[in-house]
Parts: sequence; structure tokens; C-alpha cells
Amino acid sequence: MAAQDLVDPFGRTIRDLRISVTDRCNFRCTYCMPAEGMVWLPKSEVLTFEEIERLARLFVERYGVDGIRLTGGEPTVRAHLPVLIAKLAALKVPVDSASPLAGESIDLALTTNASTLANCADELRRAGLRRINISLDSLDRAKFEQMTRRDELDRVLVGIQAAIDTGFESVKINAVIERGVNDDEILDLADFGRRLGIEVRFIEFMPLDAEGHWDNEKVVSQDEIVSRIGEAFPLESVPARGAAPADRWRYLDGKGTVGVIPSVTKPFCADCDRVRLTADGQFRTCLFATTEFDLRALLRNGADDDTVAAEIERAVGTKWAGHQINQVNFVRPGRSMSQIGG
Ligand code: 5AD
Ligand code: SF4
Repeated sequence: MAAQDLVDPFGRTIRDLRISVTDRCNFRCTYCMPAEGMVWLPKSEVLTFEEIERLARLFVERYGVDGIRLTGGEPTVRAHLPVLIAKLAALKVPVDSASPLAGESIDLALTTNASTLANCADELRRAGLRRINISLDSLDRAKFEQMTRRDELDRVLVGIQAAIDTGFESVKINAVIERGVNDDEILDLADFGRRLGIEVRFIEFMPLDAEGHWDNEKVVSQDEIVSRIGEAFPLESVPARGAAPADRWRYLDGKGTVGVIPSVTKPFCADCDRVRLTADGQFRTCLFATTEFDLRALLRNGADDDTVAAEIERAVGTKWAGHQINQVNFVRPGRSMSQIGG
């Protein structure tokens, strides 16, 4: 069958699929989860590797989706993750697709808190994982513990080094900045990336925390982050981000690049090419979507690929122009970040 683009009502072509492989996590970051009382999905509700592979294959082979990112919760707590990675790494973008990666393997990436990477980075790489993004919001042990509710900074730092040593095509750091919490560490985090030769991407705090403590005043804007870094380390902007969410800057002294994801102050919705699959097989067309489409039910009721594809197309037909975080009529999604998949 010829590849066909999956295009939403605003003309955006879907190329990127984020798959949450588990809602569980060994951390309890305050901007994501409550300290206690998370109720995990029962195993029977979580998609099996066979189900994930079937859906991923459909997205790649029918629609020319050319990038898959595995998320959670914390994806590395899912047992036998390398087995899934090997299955997905084998997927190829159809030669007749309009994707720039037509005929090639998909770009397979993972977002992790790195707490177990020292043990599994090698295995993930050998299974075919190409790129890795690591969450790190503080370099101060007490602050790290306050933000993640786990005293694991040292393990994460070792995990980051393991990822670098393993030779992934790219290793990046994600840092969520919350005013009054870790905005005093913007320069330290930027400098950490400069010293390791990896890109740090600062993320504006989004209203997806389980406890609902988000508030506009706690958002540190892209403009403020960039001007604070630029005062210490002069920067020039790197043009054209395409569908990637981060705007990027280059350090004028040649020490690499830094990114900022301005989800709140400058939403990049107009260029969004992403869709998401939750761990329990619900299909979402936006991080902030309030509607989900139950692909798991279709799979488990024996639907054929055409039927599943029709539901995917129906869902993509509802992808909205953009989220409304800054508007009075903004409605928080019913689930928080770890349940949706970052
Ligand atoms: N705002 C911004 N980013 C968040 N993440 C989790 N919760 C939030 C939030 N409320 C990020 C994590 C990680 C990715 C999975 O999502 O830092 O990098
Ligand atoms: Fe876990 Fe990531 Fe949520 Fe932190 S942000 S609790 S590491 S899923």
C-alpha cells in the first residue's frame, strides 16, 4: 500500500509519535506527580509490546511517521524495554513517503530520568535506540531531592555520563524551570551542558502537574531564560526549528548550543507534528487534549488495520489549532504528565 500522509485540519502533517510505555515512575517530581497516592494502571490495561508494535508499524508504514519517542512515567522501569526498542528500531519509513527519512529507519528516541541508565544505557543503544533526552532540574543535592522527592542526584549524574560514553547519536538534558524553586540554577545548568558538550533544553513549566499548583507566576519565560544565560555566556540564535519544539541558541565562544521550549509564552502549536499514545492505549492529538481515542479497545476487539486506521484519521481530524494555556477558557486535561507521557 502506498504511504499516505496523515494531515490534520490545519494542514500539519503528522510525523512524530510519542508512546508512553508505562505510567509508573521511581521519582515523584513535584511538577508532575503527588508525593503519595498515585494509582498505577493494572498490568492488564497497559498495552503489550505486540500491541505497541502493531500500532507503531501502522503509523510508520501507512502514514510515514518517521520519529518515535518512548516516554512514561519512566520508560526504563518497564520490564524488557530493550525488546520493544529492537522491534521499533527495525521499522522503516516507506520509500514512497514524503518524509525526508523515506526508505530509512525511524528516528527512535527516549526520554528518561536517567536513574537507571548506568545499568542499561549500553543495552538500549545495542537494541537500536538512537537518541536520549534526560531530565535534570537541579545540580544541588538538596534541591534535586526537593524537586524529585528522591535523593538520587548522584545516580542521575552517573547515568548521564553513561549515556554520553555509550555513543548515542544525541544526548540532551531537559530542565523544567519553576520560579522560586530552581530559577537560581539556570546558569549552573547551562554551564553543566557547556562543560559536558551536550545541549541543555530549558522547559517552561506547564499546567500538567498532578497537584494543580501551577500558576502563571511560576513560569519563567523563554525571554528571561535566554537573557539570563546570554549575560554570562553571549549567544546568537540558531534559525529554523521546523517542527522541533525547542528554539536554539549558539554560544559565541563555540561551547555548543542551548535550547528553550516556550510551551507557555510562545506555543509552537502551529508547527506541531506530534501525536501521542498513552500506556493504556489511548490516542491523543495534543498534550493538552481533553479527548482520547481508545485504540486499545479496537485492538482487543479484533479490529483490522483499516478499522484502526480509520479511528486514527478520525482522531487527527479533531487536532486543534493550539492549546489555550493563557486563555480564561483553558481546561486542564483530566490526567497529569506521567499519565499522558511527556
Ligand atoms: N511542565 C513542563 N515539563 C514537564 N515535564 C513533566 N511535567 C512537566 C510540567 N508540568 C517534563 C519532564 C520531562 C518530560 C518527560 O516532561 O521534565 O523532561
Ligand atoms: Fe517521573 Fe518524569 Fe514525572 Fe519526574 S517528571 S515524576 S521523572 S515521570
